[in-house]
Amino acid sequence: MDKKYLREKFAQVFGEGPAPRFFCAPARVNLIGEHIDYNGGDVFPAALDLVTVVAARPREDGLVRLAADDLPGIFVACPLSKLHFFKGTAWGSYQLGVASELQKAGYPLCGCDLYFWSDIPFGSGLSSSASIQVATAVALVTLGAESAHTAPNLDLTSLAVLCQRSENQFVGVNCGIMDQFASAHGKRGHAILLNCKTLDYELVPLAMEGYALVIGNTCKKRGLGDSKYNERRAECDEAMRLLKDAYPERTLLCELSLREFEAAAHLIKDAVLYRRALHVVSENERVRASVAALRAGDLKAFGALMNQSHDSLRDLYEVTGFELDSMVDEARKIDGVLGARMTGAGFGGCTVSLVPCGKVELFMEQVGERYYEKTGIMPAFYVTLPDDGARELTD
Ligand code: GLA
Repeated sequence: MDKKYLREKFAQVFGEGPAPRFFCAPARVNLIGEHIDYNGGDVFPAALDLVTVVAARPREDGLVRLAADDLPGIFVACPLSKLHFFKGTAWGSYQLGVASELQKAGYPLCGCDLYFWSDIPFGSGLSSSASIQVATAVALVTLGAESAHTAPNLDLTSLAVLCQRSENQFVGVNCGIMDQFASAHGKRGHAILLNCKTLDYELVPLAMEGYALVIGNTCKKRGLGDSKYNERRAECDEAMRLLKDAYPERTLLCELSLREFEAAAHLIKDAVLYRRALHVVSENERVRASVAALRAGDLKAFGALMNQSHDSLRDLYEVTGFELDSMVDEARKIDGVLGARMTGAGFGGCTVSLVPCGKVELFMEQVGERYYEKTGIMPAFYVTLPDDGARELTD
């Protein structure tokens, strides 16, 4: 990211004046634990060194103005008193939704100009939208507190929860907490083992001697809003409702072990609902097993769990599709690859593979070629590293 470039663009769009400050929040890749967060289980994401940066400067008149580097035709201006006008809009609802939730929660806010820049591929399942939200939250909280002469309350868990609520209510996507949490709490060289019910988390060093995590973008766009995401959530709720006959005190699927689930699975007569619930309960168990394997330095076992996760998302949860499956199949054919799976919501988006460092070039070339032959879509690959979460860029 080139700060000089961003300063110039900022001045062109919003006018000369004091230099803006820079805030950023990263993309995330989920290593395992997919479609688990809204079922109250464990997930294992890592923040990446792909980021959204927002250049921000306070204004005196209570207007929030937004512009984005990749959308030169768009300019949004909204008074802090009218944020609800932007509920559900195609662009602006992510940022103004966060402002609205901050306002409701009592954070002091001030008007400001915000210019967005990102190197996260949009709509690719790496949480570009969560990074926009979290970067916006950190910028608004920091500038708002300064204008009110108070210390900023940058409790990252509270901000992640607030961003999730904004996406649920303002944008209209019923996402879980994983993406915003990972973007807020990321740590260089680490993945985050997060329990989505309690929000307790642990940073786990990702020491993968001799191996790299390669992200493959199928370049098949997915829109969460019009995808089957909300439908899957409803199916999980329905499966849990049926299981309550056996476990009246439980409320979320991930409160059941696989064994407990199997003992009561006869209560779910519908084959589709059964498959959905079986994925959730078994995927949740795979997360702890993965972390144990990583801690023991057993990358082979971790890779095998990644493979099982993808197969379950393909056969039981049915959120993969031709493009993701083709890329994963081709990835697994490369000699030495220990595991490959889809990451994120599915229905397009990205895969993540555990590739020997010496084979990364070959992997990208061969998987890319074969994927293109099968799908006619040119994919993209990123070899990124786990990086820090949301922060002000001060240097
Ligand atoms: C999307 C959602 C997350 C999570 C994943 C699937 O990324 O935003 O909350 O549910 O899908 O694991």
